[in-house]
Order: sequence, then structure tokens, then C-alpha cells
Amino acid sequence: MTLMISKNTADCVRHSVDIIRQNQAGTGAYIASPGFVHYRYAWFRDGTFTAYAMDRIGEHESARRFYQWCHDVLMKQEPKARRAMEAARRGEWDGHENDVFLHTRYTVDGEEVPGKWGNFQLDGYGTWLWGVAEHVRLTGQTAWIDQMRPGIELTLDYLEACWRLPNYDCWEEHGDRIHPATLAAVYGGCRAVQPYLPDRSAALGALCEEIRLYLLKNGIEQGRFVKSIGNPAVDASLLWLSLPFGMVAIDDPVMTNTVHQIERLLQNGCGVHRYPQDVYYGGGQWPLLSAWLGWYYARAGKRPKAVEMLRWVESKFGGEGLPEQVQDVLLAPAAYQEWLSKEGPPAVPLLWSHAMYLVLYAELVQWPPLSEKR
Ligand code: BGC
Repeated sequence: MTLMISKNTADCVRHSVDIIRQNQAGTGAYIASPGFVHYRYAWFRDGTFTAYAMDRIGEHESARRFYQWCHDVLMKQEPKARRAMEAARRGEWDGHENDVFLHTRYTVDGEEVPGKWGNFQLDGYGTWLWGVAEHVRLTGQTAWIDQMRPGIELTLDYLEACWRLPNYDCWEEHGDRIHPATLAAVYGGCRAVQPYLPDRSAALGALCEEIRLYLLKNGIEQGRFVKSIGNPAVDASLLWLSLPFGMVAIDDPVMTNTVHQIERLLQNGCGVHRYPQDVYYGGGQWPLLSAWLGWYYARAGKRPKAVEMLRWVESKFGGEGLPEQVQDVLLAPAAYQEWLSKEGPPAVPLLWSHAMYLVLYAELVQWPPLSEKR
């Protein structure tokens, strides 16, 4: 099935790129969502996937500016990161209360955001490493990575020291657990930069293997990957294990069982929920997850299903762009009103939703995938 690039697809692509451009600050930071008060900041996680999407469609300058912003933030945070590593080595995990670890979101000027938040999240830092390596691969500009080297080395030191500590997941919840998707991001980041660091290559290889074996030992129940170590639920973020982080092969039986579970318990039509107990804004369906599953299908050779997912995401574009979630099917309808009255309508536009749409689009028009041309 070939992708017909309809006028609607062309409009959605253009709209997505415009929204991403408009919400990239002069500093290079991408604002997660300009329309939602808690998201008017920049995340390493959302931002890296946004930069990756921009790289996939040839907007390399935008991606590079974001990665440079991350690098500047990291360098500014170096003293804190070094103190956190010491604390981690001494086994002083504090349940996050005294703000020892690096934050997950920053102002566009690279300052920590004051106030209560699930700040300690490792996945964004691994994702950043992966994104930097993808930028090099997609632009061919190997020399540029030298400019990122201090930040890369610092991130690696930090992840090496901290990866065994419980930290908040990619949904910014459950900070008292360890999450396979986070492990995958750490693994994927370390693997991705390994070829550029000959001096650290052996140590990085050993670290990646340690993380992988930890996952295989602790992160599988009944033949499927689990949401968190000790919590056997399913979570759509488990797709990360294969894509993009490559910790598990796409056709690994445990992975395919996990994907079947996502389809069975989290998919309604082409809409995908995060996890069965989700109550955030009623637990709606996240366009970025439909795009992710579509990306997985494309790589698994199920192209017609991937196209279906793309079309569904396109049907969710409104005048303001793509939201974080849509409320067509809710897992916890009563909770929707509560969130609505507490925080107002769900975030729209969400740059990460646009990013994953662009990734799926790029995947479908650039066939075979660029990443197979290693
Ligand atoms: C999501 C995170 C995301 C953040 C900003 C949160 O509600 O759970 O995954 O990074 O919003 O978009």
C-alpha cells in the first residue's frame, strides 16, 4: 500500500512544521505546549523527539539548535549533576524530596522551574544522547559531535551512576519504581553515542549489556514486558524498547506479545491509551502513541496498518493543531471533568504529537526507512 500524499496530508505536515517552528524559542528550546500553563517549558524528552522529527524531514538547523540548547543546560547543571552522582554512588536515593537530581523540564532560558513536579526522570537524558547521534547520522556531519562532547560525557557519567535508582517514568508518574521504557532510553542513548567515543566504548558496551540483562531478568512477566519493575500492567511506552531504542528486536517474541497486549488492552479503533489505569483527563487516546504504533507497524512490515494510524492522527488535527490526547474514548470518564475544572482543557497543540506524526509520515514516504541505510 503506497501512501497517497493527499492535500490533507500535505496540509498536516505543513501545519506541524509551522507549529514546531513557531514554538522554538530563540535559545533553541522547544516549548512542549504553548496553550497549557504547566507545559510552557522545554523537556529533553519531548524536545528530542521533536528535533528528531525535524531531522527526519530535513529541518536540520532547528534540530541542531535544540541539541545545542540541551548542551548548554547540561553544562550549567554540571555541578549539580556531579553532586547527584556522588549521592547515587553513596546509595543516597532520597525519594526525590530534596531535589538532588537533574530536572526534567526547564524554562526556555535553561533555568530550573521552581515548584513541585516529578523532576527526577532519566529517560529524557538517554533520549537526548540518542537524538544527538541520530542528528549526526541524518546529516552526515560527524565533526559536529565534538561540540557536544562535554555534554555527552557528563550525561553518560550521570546515567551510569543513576540508572539503577527509581525515578519518574515518561508520563512523570510512579517515581518510586524503575521503568523498562526509561531503561530503554538509557540503553539506546549509550549505544547510540558508543561509536563516537572509542575511549569509552568497552565500558559503554558493558553498561548496555548490564542494563539489558537487568531488564530481561526483572522486566518480563508471563512472556511480556511490564510497565514497571514489580508492576505487571501494560503500557504503550513499552514500544520504545524496540523503537527507537533497539534494546529488543521488533520481532522478539516477548516484544510481539507486548504489542499484542497493547493492541488488546489499550487500542480502541486506531486510538491508543497510555495504560489501563490512566485517569489523567479521563485517560483519553494519545495521537503520539497512535503514531508510535504506526511507526512500529511500518518497521514490522505492516505498512497498511501504519497508513491507517497516520490517517487517524490526521483526523485529529484541529485549527490549533494536534492535542496531547483526544476524548473520543475515555478509560475513566468521571475523572475528565475533575481535570477540566482543575486545569482547563487538555494541552493543544502539543509539539510532541506533531513530532510523532511527522516521524510516521517520514517513515512512510521514505521507504525503506533511512535508518536501514547504515
Ligand atoms: C506527559 C509527559 C510530557 C509532558 C510534556 C506530561 O503530561 O506525561 O510525557 O513530557 O506532559 O508534554
